[in-house]
Amino acid sequence: EKGGYDHFMMKEIHEQPKGLYETLMRRLNDDNTIKLDGITMTKADIESFNKVYIVACGTAYHAGLVGKAAIEKMARIPVEVDIASEFRYRDPFVDDKTLFIAISQSGETLDTLAALREAKRKGARILSVVNVVGSSVARESDDVFYTWAGPEIAVASTKAYTTQLMCMYLIALYMGHTKGVIDQDYYNRFIEELKQIPDKLEELLKKEKDVEAIAKKYCRKEQVFFIGRGVDSGVSYEGSLKLKEISYINSFAIAAGELKHGTIALIEEGTLVFALATQDFLFEKMLSNIQEIKARGANVVGIAKEGNREIEKQSSEVIYIPSCMDEVTPLLSVVPLQLFAYYVAKFRGCNIDKPKNLAKSVTVE
Ligand code: M6R
Repeated sequence: EKGGYDHFMMKEIHEQPKGLYETLMRRLNDDNTIKLDGITMTKADIESFNKVYIVACGTAYHAGLVGKAAIEKMARIPVEVDIASEFRYRDPFVDDKTLFIAISQSGETLDTLAALREAKRKGARILSVVNVVGSSVARESDDVFYTWAGPEIAVASTKAYTTQLMCMYLIALYMGHTKGVIDQDYYNRFIEELKQIPDKLEELLKKEKDVEAIAKKYCRKEQVFFIGRGVDSGVSYEGSLKLKEISYINSFAIAAGELKHGTIALIEEGTLVFALATQDFLFEKMLSNIQEIKARGANVVGIAKEGNREIEKQSSEVIYIPSCMDEVTPLLSVVPLQLFAYYVAKFRGCNIDKPKNLAKSVTVE
């Protein structure tokens, strides 16, 4: 049942190209327009929204951080991303001009469901991104955008995250296109880009051995940092969560520009830092952040797009992801971080699929 892999997590990491292909293709018509298939949200609805709330927990929340960037860029509407357990207790500004997007793999996370009910009570339109068909979140939403990841068994979420990202891109594109904010040329380019992602991900997965070697080298570290700017900061949070939940290493993610406002005090000789530098327009800024931590003796593992070789001067190791538009790099850059967490946990003898203290679906407060 693990398809020849030692753990469900590894099987699920390798299922990502297929999950992304399915999630995309089931929503595309032959002419590249987005297939609504059950989605009842109209053009008038989309034009009436003055704000979007994306609410979720854990990994799904991290998918929301990337979703915010996509929706703000493409649909030019303010988006707030919130943790469900915070949202539900703070009387948020929600009314009938609010689009509320819940993201949940299981569709049964109690806090996410409670936040959804609260938003509904205040009159918001509810759209959810869910993996489990017929789950509570799906049933209680006005519209559902399903991820086609297939069942996710490992506690550490992998393929649910990347397919959630795919849905968020499609939602952003759909809203932007409907509102007439993005032009046809950008829309077409973006869809073509998304279509290429499954193949690019297959390519990237061939670097598994390289990531394994990096994990072997650093698996005894007791502290790991993840830094990045823009969407790379969202992916940093996800890489850090993956590592802590399955390897029990103390890890910390932070927006790179925020480092010098305090956290850099923790960087010392031998501190391991993953520096995500996939954004072309932020590349130089990241290089100077890397230089700052390097100067304090950190071991830096850089993640950059193929061709951006300048990062090699500042890093002990570099993992290159296939080149692509800046917007979609999270679909690729998260994968080496998933693999790193997996191998570190393996080298440390941890229970990868069922880490201590954690349940697959959190149906209590
Ligand atoms: O089923 P959900 O997507 O609502 O679950 C949310 C979180 O509990 C979940 O993503 C959790 O953070 C994962 N264990 C992370 O790998």
